[in-house]
Amino acid sequence: MDLEITLRVNGATYQLSVDTRTTLLDALRERLGLTGAKKGCDHGQCGACTVLLDGRRVNSCLALAVAHQDAQIVTVEGLATDADHLHPLQQSFIDHDAFQCGYCTPGQLCSAVGMLREAEDGWPSTVSADLTASHITLDDDEIRERMSGNLCRCAAYANIVPAIKDVAKPAQEVLETQQPEQEARR
Ligand code: FES
Ligand code: FES
Repeated sequence: MDLEITLRVNGATYQLSVDTRTTLLDALRERLGLTGAKKGCDHGQCGACTVLLDGRRVNSCLALAVAHQDAQIVTVEGLATDADHLHPLQQSFIDHDAFQCGYCTPGQLCSAVGMLREAEDGWPSTVSADLTASHITLDDDEIRERMSGNLCRCAAYANIVPAIKDVAKPAQEVLETQQPEQEARR
């Protein structure tokens, strides 16, 4: 059965008619021409299709397009402010040479954006020592665990981790300077 739907992607609104079984990944790639998100496994196993739905990372191969009409969808094409201003993570991946073939990179980038937000919000991971801590330091173990849903066939992990860490660091430094001030005010 086909349905008329509206998708909000990277700040633009699209109206399209889709089979109700169409995945968000197929709608983005095949119908909207946004081929940044990649189809790796099509089974939720590799993370190549990761996009952001209302700021949270999801595997778009497991999401139905019809179910996400109210969401603000961001794909890798929407991360940069404009052609001259890459997202800090995009720049850091370039600076660290954090890819080889690049197939997994759009998913890695979207996943890292979502992951940094989760850490800022204090979400623990399975390697977090203190599950109740309001502040999480993103060391290598935390980054590896939190990014473990994104596979890289070229095994560029040795450069992906420091690329993400470099972007996480300034945000964490701000948090660390804010915390003693907040505690002193209590
Ligand atoms: S293509 Fe979606 S997780 Fe692999
Ligand atoms: S850079 Fe080739 S799969 Fe990750």
